[in-house]
Amino acid sequence: KKGLKLYDPGYLNTVPVRSAISYIDGDEGILRYRGYPIEELAEKSTFTEVSYLIMYGTLPSESQLAEWEFAISQHSAVPQGVLDIIQSMPHDAHPMGVLVNAMSALSVFHPDANPALRITTIAAAVYLRMAGRPPVLPSNTLPYTENFLYMLDSFGNRSYKPNPRLTRALDIIFILHAEHEMNCSTSAVRHLASSGVDVYTAIAGAVGALYGPLHGGANEAVLKMLSEIGTVQNIPEFIEGVKTRKQKLSGFGHRVYKNYDPRAKVLRKLAEEVFSIVGRDPLIEVAVALEKVALSDEYFIKRKLYPNVDFYSGLIYRAMGFPPEYFTVLFAIPRMAGYLSHWRESLDDPDTKIMRPQQVYVGEWLRDYVPINTRT
Ligand code: SDX
Repeated sequence: KKGLKLYDPGYLNTVPVRSAISYIDGDEGILRYRGYPIEELAEKSTFTEVSYLIMYGTLPSESQLAEWEFAISQHSAVPQGVLDIIQSMPHDAHPMGVLVNAMSALSVFHPDANPALRITTIAAAVYLRMAGRPPVLPSNTLPYTENFLYMLDSFGNRSYKPNPRLTRALDIIFILHAEHEMNCSTSAVRHLASSGVDVYTAIAGAVGALYGPLHGGANEAVLKMLSEIGTVQNIPEFIEGVKTRKQKLSGFGHRVYKNYDPRAKVLRKLAEEVFSIVGRDPLIEVAVALEKVALSDEYFIKRKLYPNVDFYSGLIYRAMGFPPEYFTVLFAIPRMAGYLSHWRESLDDPDTKIMRPQQVYVGEWLRDYVPINTRT
C-alpha cells in the first residue's frame, strides 16, 4: 500500500485522546460534564459552579465555591497593554478577530494569569469598543455573569444592576456552552498545548478555530440565514436551495450528534423565557417553522440532521440586544472553562506526546530533478 506508512501508534497520535472531562453520546443525544447530565446542571447549577466542576472534577463545597468566586473577582482585571491593543483595532474589525489578538497579547503582558478569569473583562472591552465606548472596570463584588453584563450596560454607574432574569438566562447559556469534549477548537488547544506553548497562545489558537462559521460562528450564520429567509412563506424555497446544495441549513447538523443536541432543547425553552421579558422576536416563528419542516423532510432525516446548540442561541442573544457579530464571543466566554480544563488535563497526562496526526501520502512517488532549460 504505497503512501500509507502506518507507524507504531505510540509514535504518532493515532490513538484517541483520553479525557475525563465530558461525555457525549451522539446517537442518544447525551451530554454530561464530569458525569452530571447537562439538563440538570442547566436547571440547578450556576456557571461559576459548573466552571469549577469542569476544571477540578467535583462540585465545589460552599467554602471551595466562595474561594473560587473570590479568586475570579480578584483576578478579572486586564493589563492596560491588552486594553490598548483592543482599542487600537480598526473600528469595524470583527470582534472575534479582536478577541484572538487580545488573548494572544495576554501571553506578552501577563504570562502568569488565568485566561478563564479575564475573558469576561476582555470580552466586555471588545463589546464596548464596538459601541465606541471606553472599557469599564469589573465590579469586585458581583457574580461572574452579572459582572459581565454590568461592564456592558453600566456606563460606569457602579450602582447599576442588570436584570436578574436575563442574567440567569445568560448564566444558563454559559453552562450549556462551557465544554464539549474534542470539538474543533478544544482540539486546537490540545494541539498547541502538546508543543509546550503558554496557555494564552494555546487559547488564542482555539479562539481562532471557534471563529469559523462551521463551528462557533454558526450562531451568527443562523441569524443571517433566518433574516434572509424573512418569512415562513419563504421556507419551502430555502429548503429546496439546501437540498440542491446552494446553501447550508446553519444551526443544523453535528459531527457527533446524530440526534437532537440536548443543549438545543434547553435553549429552545429558554428562548421563550427571554422573549417573555424583552418581547418576542418575529424570527422565532421562522425558526420554529424551519425546524418543523426540516425534522419531517426525508433529506434531513436520512442525513440525521437535527438542530444543534447554535440554532436557537442566536435568537436569544439578539433578543438580549447583542449584535450578530458578537454572538461567537458569547460562545468563547464560557468555553474558556473547557479549553483550560483540557489544557491542564493534557499537561497532567504523562502519556501526552506532541500531537502529529497521521497522513496518507497521495503525491508523486519519486522523480529525478531536471534543469530549468529542459522543462516544458
Ligand atoms: C458547533 O464538534 C462540536 O462539538 C462543536 C460544537 C461545540 O459545542 O463545540 O457542538 C459547536 O460547532 C456546532 C455545529 C455548528 N455548525 C453549524 O451549525 C454549521 C452547519 N452545520 C454543518 O456545516 C455540519 O453539520 C457540521 C459542520 C456541523 C458537521 O459537518 P459534517 O460532519 O461534515 O456533516 P455530516 O458528515 O454529518 O454530513 C452528512 C450529510 C452530508 O450530505 P451528503 O454529502 O451525505 O449528501 O449532511 C449534509 C452533508 O453535506 N449536511 C448538511 C448540513 N450539515 C451536514 N446539509 C445541509 N445543511 C447542513 N447544516
